[in-house]
Amino acid sequence: MNIAIETLPEALRKPKPQGKALGFGSLFTDHMFVMEYDKGEGWHDARITRYQNFSFDPAAMVFHYGQAIFEGLKAYRGADNNIFLFRPKDNLARMNISATRMCMPTFAVDEVFQCLQTLLRTEQDWVPDAQGASLYIRPTMIATEAGLGVRPAKKYLFFIILTPVGAYYPEGFNPVKIFVTDKYVRAVPGGVGTAKTAGNYAASITAAVEAQQQGFTQVLWLDAVHRKYVEEVGTMNIFFVIGDEIITPPLGGSILAGITRDSVIKLLGDWGRSVVERPITIDEVFAASANGQLHEVFGTGTAAVISPVGSLFYKGTSCAVNNGKTGAIAQRLFTELQDIQHGRQPESHGWVVKL
Ligand SMILES: Cc1ncc(COP(=O)(O)O)c(C=O)c1O
Repeated sequence: MNIAIETLPEALRKPKPQGKALGFGSLFTDHMFVMEYDKGEGWHDARITRYQNFSFDPAAMVFHYGQAIFEGLKAYRGADNNIFLFRPKDNLARMNISATRMCMPTFAVDEVFQCLQTLLRTEQDWVPDAQGASLYIRPTMIATEAGLGVRPAKKYLFFIILTPVGAYYPEGFNPVKIFVTDKYVRAVPGGVGTAKTAGNYAASITAAVEAQQQGFTQVLWLDAVHRKYVEEVGTMNIFFVIGDEIITPPLGGSILAGITRDSVIKLLGDWGRSVVERPITIDEVFAASANGQLHEVFGTGTAAVISPVGSLFYKGTSCAVNNGKTGAIAQRLFTELQDIQHGRQPESHGWVVKL
Protein backbone atom coordinates (compact mmCIF):
# COMPACT_ATOMS: atom_id res chain seq x y z
CA MET A 1 0.00 0.00 0.00
CA ASN A 2 1.36 3.45 -0.95
CA ILE A 3 1.21 5.92 1.90
CA ALA A 4 1.42 9.67 1.29
CA ILE A 5 3.20 11.36 4.18
CA GLU A 6 2.63 15.00 5.03
CA THR A 7 4.42 15.89 8.27
CA LEU A 8 4.13 19.04 10.34
CA PRO A 9 7.15 21.35 10.65
CA GLU A 10 8.87 20.95 14.05
CA ALA A 11 7.83 24.45 15.11
CA LEU A 12 4.12 23.56 14.82
CA ARG A 13 4.30 20.35 16.85
CA LYS A 14 2.74 20.13 20.31
CA PRO A 15 4.78 19.97 23.53
CA LYS A 16 4.98 16.41 24.83
CA PRO A 17 3.64 15.84 28.35
CA GLN A 18 5.87 14.17 30.91
CA GLY A 19 5.32 12.29 34.17
CA LYS A 20 2.11 13.23 36.01
CA ALA A 21 0.83 15.32 33.08
CA LEU A 22 0.19 12.07 31.20
CA GLY A 23 -3.51 11.33 31.59
CA PHE A 24 -5.65 9.02 29.51
CA GLY A 25 -7.09 9.83 26.13
CA SER A 26 -7.35 13.61 26.19
CA LEU A 27 -4.19 14.66 24.34
CA PHE A 28 -3.38 13.37 20.88
CA THR A 29 -0.13 13.33 18.92
CA ASP A 30 0.71 15.57 15.94
CA HIS A 31 -0.17 13.11 13.17
CA MET A 32 -2.69 10.42 12.32
CA PHE A 33 -3.15 7.73 9.68
CA VAL A 34 -6.20 7.89 7.40
CA MET A 35 -7.50 5.81 4.48
CA GLU A 36 -10.81 5.72 2.66
CA TYR A 37 -12.98 2.98 1.22
CA ASP A 38 -15.41 3.10 -1.66
CA LYS A 39 -17.41 0.11 -2.78
CA GLY A 40 -15.97 -1.09 -6.09
CA GLU A 41 -12.63 0.66 -5.50
CA GLY A 42 -11.59 -0.78 -2.12
CA TRP A 43 -9.25 1.01 0.28
CA HIS A 44 -7.46 4.02 -1.17
CA ASP A 45 -5.76 7.31 -0.35
CA ALA A 46 -3.74 5.95 2.56
CA ARG A 47 -1.94 8.88 4.17
CA ILE A 48 -0.28 10.24 7.25
CA THR A 49 -1.47 13.77 7.89
CA ARG A 50 -1.43 16.23 10.73
CA TYR A 51 -4.01 15.46 13.46
CA GLN A 52 -7.07 17.45 12.41
CA ASN A 53 -10.88 17.56 12.43
CA PHE A 54 -12.95 15.58 9.96
CA SER A 55 -15.90 17.06 8.14
CA PHE A 56 -18.95 14.84 7.51
CA ASP A 57 -22.37 15.19 5.97
CA PRO A 58 -25.06 15.17 8.73
CA ALA A 59 -26.51 12.11 6.95
CA ALA A 60 -23.24 10.15 7.29
CA MET A 61 -24.49 6.68 8.11
CA VAL A 62 -22.34 6.21 11.21
CA PHE A 63 -24.43 8.86 13.00
CA HIS A 64 -27.68 7.04 12.32
CA TYR A 65 -27.06 3.33 12.11
CA GLY A 66 -23.89 2.97 14.15
CA GLN A 67 -21.47 1.18 11.83
CA ALA A 68 -18.43 2.04 13.99
CA ILE A 69 -15.68 -0.28 15.19
CA PHE A 70 -12.37 0.31 16.91
CA GLU A 71 -9.36 -1.31 18.55
CA GLY A 72 -7.04 -0.48 21.43
CA LEU A 73 -3.38 -1.44 21.77
CA LYS A 74 -0.22 0.15 23.08
CA ALA A 75 3.38 0.95 22.11
CA TYR A 76 5.86 0.67 24.99
CA ARG A 77 9.33 2.16 25.41
CA GLY A 78 11.87 -0.32 26.74
CA ALA A 79 14.74 0.54 29.05
CA ASP A 80 17.09 0.35 26.03
CA ASN A 81 14.97 3.08 24.36
CA ASN A 82 13.55 0.65 21.78
CA ILE A 83 9.81 0.77 21.08
CA PHE A 84 7.80 -2.44 21.35
CA LEU A 85 4.30 -3.48 20.30
CA PHE A 86 2.42 -6.37 21.88
CA ARG A 87 0.55 -8.70 19.49
CA PRO A 88 -0.42 -5.79 17.19
CA LYS A 89 -1.54 -7.99 14.29
CA ASP A 90 -3.95 -9.77 16.65
CA ASN A 91 -5.69 -6.45 17.27
CA LEU A 92 -5.93 -5.78 13.54
CA ALA A 93 -7.22 -9.31 12.90
CA ARG A 94 -9.84 -8.80 15.64
CA MET A 95 -10.84 -5.54 13.94
CA ASN A 96 -11.55 -7.53 10.78
CA ILE A 97 -13.76 -9.87 12.85
CA SER A 98 -15.64 -6.81 14.14
CA ALA A 99 -15.88 -5.44 10.58
CA THR A 100 -17.36 -8.69 9.26
CA ARG A 101 -19.97 -8.77 12.05
CA MET A 102 -20.95 -5.15 11.41
CA CYS A 103 -21.09 -5.63 7.62
CA MET A 104 -18.12 -3.30 7.11
CA PRO A 105 -15.13 -3.83 4.78
CA THR A 106 -12.10 -5.78 5.98
CA PHE A 107 -8.50 -4.87 5.15
CA ALA A 108 -5.17 -6.66 4.65
CA VAL A 109 -3.70 -6.94 8.16
CA ASP A 110 -0.07 -6.87 6.93
CA GLU A 111 -0.65 -3.71 4.89
CA VAL A 112 -2.39 -1.84 7.69
CA PHE A 113 0.29 -3.01 10.10
CA GLN A 114 2.90 -1.40 7.83
CA CYS A 115 0.88 1.83 7.88
CA LEU A 116 0.73 1.67 11.69
CA GLN A 117 4.50 1.19 11.86
CA THR A 118 5.04 4.18 9.57
CA LEU A 119 2.77 6.31 11.77
CA LEU A 120 4.58 5.17 14.91
CA ARG A 121 7.98 5.94 13.38
CA THR A 122 6.71 9.45 12.60
CA GLU A 123 5.49 9.83 16.20
CA GLN A 124 8.12 7.82 18.05
CA ASP A 125 9.14 10.73 20.29
CA TRP A 126 5.61 10.59 21.72
CA VAL A 127 6.12 7.15 23.28
CA PRO A 128 6.64 8.09 26.95
CA ASP A 129 9.41 6.53 29.01
CA ALA A 130 7.86 7.06 32.48
CA GLN A 131 7.27 3.88 34.52
CA GLY A 132 4.02 2.22 33.40
CA ALA A 133 3.35 4.81 30.68
CA SER A 134 2.75 3.98 27.01
CA LEU A 135 1.40 5.34 23.73
CA TYR A 136 -2.18 4.15 23.30
CA ILE A 137 -3.16 3.34 19.69
CA ARG A 138 -6.76 3.68 18.57
CA PRO A 139 -7.55 2.29 15.08
CA THR A 140 -11.15 3.17 14.15
CA MET A 141 -13.49 2.57 11.20
CA ILE A 142 -16.77 4.39 10.51
CA ALA A 143 -19.41 4.51 7.75
CA THR A 144 -19.24 7.88 6.00
CA GLU A 145 -21.68 7.55 3.12
CA ALA A 146 -24.39 10.23 3.31
CA GLY A 147 -27.81 8.64 3.16
CA LEU A 148 -30.70 7.42 5.25
CA GLY A 149 -31.96 3.84 5.10
CA VAL A 150 -30.70 0.83 7.03
CA ARG A 151 -28.20 -1.04 4.83
CA PRO A 152 -24.42 -1.39 4.64
CA ALA A 153 -22.79 1.91 3.69
CA LYS A 154 -20.76 2.12 0.49
CA LYS A 155 -18.10 4.49 1.91
CA TYR A 156 -15.93 4.17 5.02
CA LEU A 157 -13.12 5.98 6.75
CA PHE A 158 -10.36 4.15 8.62
CA PHE A 159 -8.07 6.14 10.88
CA ILE A 160 -5.50 5.61 13.61
CA ILE A 161 -4.94 8.18 16.32
CA LEU A 162 -2.40 8.04 19.15
CA THR A 163 -2.53 9.31 22.74
CA PRO A 164 0.24 9.12 25.34
CA VAL A 165 -1.10 7.57 28.55
CA GLY A 166 0.23 7.47 32.09
CA ALA A 167 0.46 4.49 34.41
CA TYR A 168 -2.94 2.83 35.01
CA TYR A 169 -2.07 2.45 38.71
CA PRO A 170 -0.33 5.71 39.69
CA GLU A 171 -0.99 4.93 43.39
CA GLY A 172 0.00 1.26 43.24
CA PHE A 173 -1.50 -2.01 42.12
CA ASN A 174 -4.67 -2.05 44.26
CA PRO A 175 -7.73 -4.34 44.10
CA VAL A 176 -10.98 -2.84 42.83
CA LYS A 177 -14.59 -3.14 44.07
CA ILE A 178 -16.92 -4.65 41.49
CA PHE A 179 -20.69 -4.32 41.18
CA VAL A 180 -22.43 -7.36 39.67
CA THR A 181 -25.47 -6.14 37.76
CA ASP A 182 -28.57 -8.25 37.22
CA LYS A 183 -30.55 -5.24 36.00
CA TYR A 184 -28.68 -4.57 32.74
CA VAL A 185 -26.98 -6.86 30.22
CA ARG A 186 -24.13 -6.06 27.87
CA ALA A 187 -24.66 -8.50 25.01
CA VAL A 188 -26.96 -11.29 23.93
CA PRO A 189 -26.21 -14.58 22.13
CA GLY A 190 -26.33 -13.87 18.42
CA GLY A 191 -25.81 -10.16 19.07
CA VAL A 192 -22.66 -8.06 18.69
CA GLY A 193 -20.86 -8.80 21.97
CA THR A 194 -17.86 -10.31 20.17
CA ALA A 195 -17.41 -7.18 18.05
CA LYS A 196 -15.55 -4.15 19.34
CA THR A 197 -18.29 -1.86 18.12
CA ALA A 198 -19.17 1.55 19.56
CA GLY A 199 -22.76 0.66 20.47
CA ASN A 200 -21.61 -1.96 22.98
CA TYR A 201 -19.84 0.75 24.94
CA ALA A 202 -22.73 3.23 24.68
CA ALA A 203 -25.02 0.50 26.03
CA SER A 204 -22.74 -0.09 29.03
CA ILE A 205 -22.55 3.48 30.32
CA THR A 206 -25.76 3.62 32.41
CA ALA A 207 -24.76 0.54 34.41
CA ALA A 208 -21.22 1.89 34.89
CA VAL A 209 -22.49 5.29 36.10
CA GLU A 210 -24.94 3.69 38.54
CA ALA A 211 -22.18 1.45 39.91
CA GLN A 212 -19.78 4.38 40.29
CA GLN A 213 -22.46 6.40 42.11
CA GLN A 214 -22.54 3.59 44.67
CA GLY A 215 -18.75 3.59 45.08
CA PHE A 216 -17.83 0.71 42.76
CA THR A 217 -15.10 0.85 40.15
CA GLN A 218 -16.50 -1.48 37.49
CA VAL A 219 -19.54 -3.53 36.49
CA LEU A 220 -19.46 -7.30 36.14
CA TRP A 221 -21.87 -8.49 33.46
CA LEU A 222 -23.91 -11.65 33.68
CA ASP A 223 -25.28 -13.54 30.68
CA ALA A 224 -28.43 -12.07 29.17
CA VAL A 225 -30.53 -15.27 29.11
CA HIS A 226 -30.20 -16.75 32.61
CA ARG A 227 -28.65 -13.73 34.34
CA LYS A 228 -26.39 -16.02 36.30
CA TYR A 229 -23.30 -16.91 34.25
CA VAL A 230 -20.38 -14.49 34.54
CA GLU A 231 -19.40 -12.85 31.24
CA GLU A 232 -16.83 -10.04 31.59
CA VAL A 233 -16.06 -6.84 33.49
CA GLY A 234 -16.21 -3.33 31.98
CA THR A 235 -13.44 -3.44 29.39
CA MET A 236 -11.81 -6.58 30.75
CA ASN A 237 -12.15 -10.35 30.71
CA ILE A 238 -12.27 -12.06 34.09
CA PHE A 239 -10.51 -14.94 35.84
CA PHE A 240 -11.28 -16.76 39.13
CA VAL A 241 -8.94 -18.88 41.22
CA ILE A 242 -11.17 -21.31 43.13
CA GLY A 243 -9.43 -24.06 45.07
CA ASP A 244 -6.76 -25.36 42.68
CA GLU A 245 -8.64 -24.33 39.54
CA ILE A 246 -8.15 -21.20 37.43
CA ILE A 247 -11.39 -20.49 35.58
CA THR A 248 -12.41 -18.01 32.90
CA PRO A 249 -15.74 -17.84 31.03
CA PRO A 250 -15.62 -19.39 27.54
CA LEU A 251 -15.75 -17.30 24.37
CA GLY A 252 -19.34 -18.29 23.77
CA GLY A 253 -20.34 -15.54 21.38
CA SER A 254 -21.27 -12.65 23.66
CA ILE A 255 -17.92 -11.62 25.18
CA LEU A 256 -14.92 -9.98 23.57
CA ALA A 257 -11.99 -12.30 22.79
CA GLY A 258 -9.43 -10.34 24.80
CA ILE A 259 -5.82 -10.48 23.66
CA THR A 260 -4.68 -10.13 27.27
CA ARG A 261 -7.05 -13.00 28.19
CA ASP A 262 -5.39 -15.23 25.60
CA SER A 263 -1.91 -14.13 26.70
CA VAL A 264 -2.74 -14.90 30.35
CA ILE A 265 -4.00 -18.38 29.44
CA LYS A 266 -0.77 -19.06 27.50
CA LEU A 267 1.50 -17.55 30.16
CA LEU A 268 -0.16 -19.63 32.89
CA GLY A 269 0.35 -22.66 30.63
CA ASP A 270 4.07 -21.80 30.47
CA TRP A 271 4.09 -21.89 34.28
CA GLY A 272 2.46 -25.33 34.25
CA ARG A 273 -0.95 -23.99 35.34
CA SER A 274 -3.86 -24.73 33.04
CA VAL A 275 -6.91 -22.50 32.76
CA VAL A 276 -10.35 -24.04 32.52
CA GLU A 277 -12.58 -22.16 30.08
CA ARG A 278 -16.05 -23.01 31.35
CA PRO A 279 -19.31 -21.34 32.30
CA ILE A 280 -19.25 -20.14 35.91
CA THR A 281 -22.24 -18.78 37.79
CA ILE A 282 -22.08 -15.86 40.17
CA ASP A 283 -23.59 -18.20 42.82
CA GLU A 284 -20.59 -20.53 42.45
CA VAL A 285 -18.26 -17.56 43.01
CA PHE A 286 -20.12 -16.47 46.16
CA ALA A 287 -20.30 -20.06 47.45
CA ALA A 288 -16.55 -20.44 46.93
CA SER A 289 -16.00 -17.25 48.91
CA ALA A 290 -18.20 -18.56 51.75
CA ASN A 291 -16.18 -21.82 51.79
CA GLY A 292 -12.85 -20.01 51.85
CA GLN A 293 -12.02 -21.33 48.35
CA LEU A 294 -12.17 -18.07 46.38
CA HIS A 295 -8.46 -17.25 46.36
CA GLU A 296 -8.26 -14.69 43.56
CA VAL A 297 -10.36 -12.76 41.05
CA PHE A 298 -8.72 -10.55 38.44
CA GLY A 299 -9.59 -8.78 35.21
CA THR A 300 -7.39 -8.76 32.09
CA GLY A 301 -7.26 -6.06 29.42
CA THR A 302 -4.94 -3.78 27.47
CA ALA A 303 -5.58 -0.70 29.62
CA ALA A 304 -4.86 -2.18 33.06
CA VAL A 305 -3.04 -5.38 31.97
CA ILE A 306 -4.22 -7.11 35.18
CA SER A 307 -6.76 -5.67 37.60
CA PRO A 308 -7.09 -7.54 40.90
CA VAL A 309 -10.62 -7.62 42.34
CA GLY A 310 -10.89 -7.08 46.10
CA SER A 311 -14.65 -7.54 46.50
CA LEU A 312 -17.82 -8.33 44.57
CA PHE A 313 -21.26 -6.92 45.38
CA TYR A 314 -24.34 -8.80 44.16
CA LYS A 315 -28.02 -8.56 45.17
CA GLY A 316 -27.20 -6.59 48.33
CA THR A 317 -24.42 -8.93 49.49
CA SER A 318 -20.71 -8.32 49.36
CA CYS A 319 -18.02 -10.97 49.19
CA ALA A 320 -14.36 -10.26 49.87
CA VAL A 321 -11.69 -11.84 47.70
CA ASN A 322 -8.41 -12.78 49.39
CA ASN A 323 -9.20 -10.34 52.24
CA GLY A 324 -9.22 -7.49 49.73
CA LYS A 325 -5.55 -8.05 48.87
CA THR A 326 -3.87 -8.70 45.52
CA GLY A 327 -3.26 -12.41 45.02
CA ALA A 328 0.06 -13.98 44.07
CA ILE A 329 -1.06 -15.10 40.59
CA ALA A 330 -2.40 -11.65 39.64
CA GLN A 331 0.77 -10.02 40.93
CA ARG A 332 3.08 -12.36 39.01
CA LEU A 333 1.04 -12.05 35.79
CA PHE A 334 1.11 -8.26 36.07
CA THR A 335 4.88 -8.17 36.52
CA GLU A 336 5.65 -10.72 33.80
CA LEU A 337 3.30 -9.29 31.20
CA GLN A 338 4.65 -5.79 31.76
CA ASP A 339 8.23 -7.07 31.52
CA ILE A 340 7.39 -8.87 28.26
CA GLN A 341 5.58 -5.83 26.83
CA HIS A 342 8.55 -3.55 27.59
CA GLY A 343 11.02 -6.03 26.08
CA ARG A 344 12.61 -6.68 29.49
CA GLN A 345 11.77 -10.38 29.52
CA PRO A 346 12.19 -12.78 26.58
CA GLU A 347 9.09 -14.71 25.46
CA SER A 348 8.65 -17.66 23.15
CA HIS A 349 5.24 -16.86 21.64
CA GLY A 350 6.31 -14.24 19.09
CA TRP A 351 4.11 -11.63 20.79
CA VAL A 352 6.52 -8.73 20.94
CA VAL A 353 7.34 -6.71 17.81
CA LYS A 354 10.17 -4.18 17.87
CA LEU A 355 9.41 -1.03 15.89
C1 LIG B 1 -15.59 -5.41 26.40
C2 LIG B 1 -14.14 -5.74 26.52
N1 LIG B 1 -13.78 -6.93 27.03
C3 LIG B 1 -12.49 -7.30 27.15
C4 LIG B 1 -11.47 -6.44 26.77
C5 LIG B 1 -10.05 -6.87 26.90
O1 LIG B 1 -9.48 -7.07 25.63
P1 LIG B 1 -7.91 -6.90 25.39
O2 LIG B 1 -7.24 -7.81 26.35
O3 LIG B 1 -7.71 -7.30 23.97
O4 LIG B 1 -7.60 -5.46 25.64
C6 LIG B 1 -11.80 -5.18 26.24
C7 LIG B 1 -10.74 -4.25 25.80
O5 LIG B 1 -10.49 -4.14 24.63
C8 LIG B 1 -13.16 -4.81 26.10
O6 LIG B 1 -13.50 -3.62 25.61
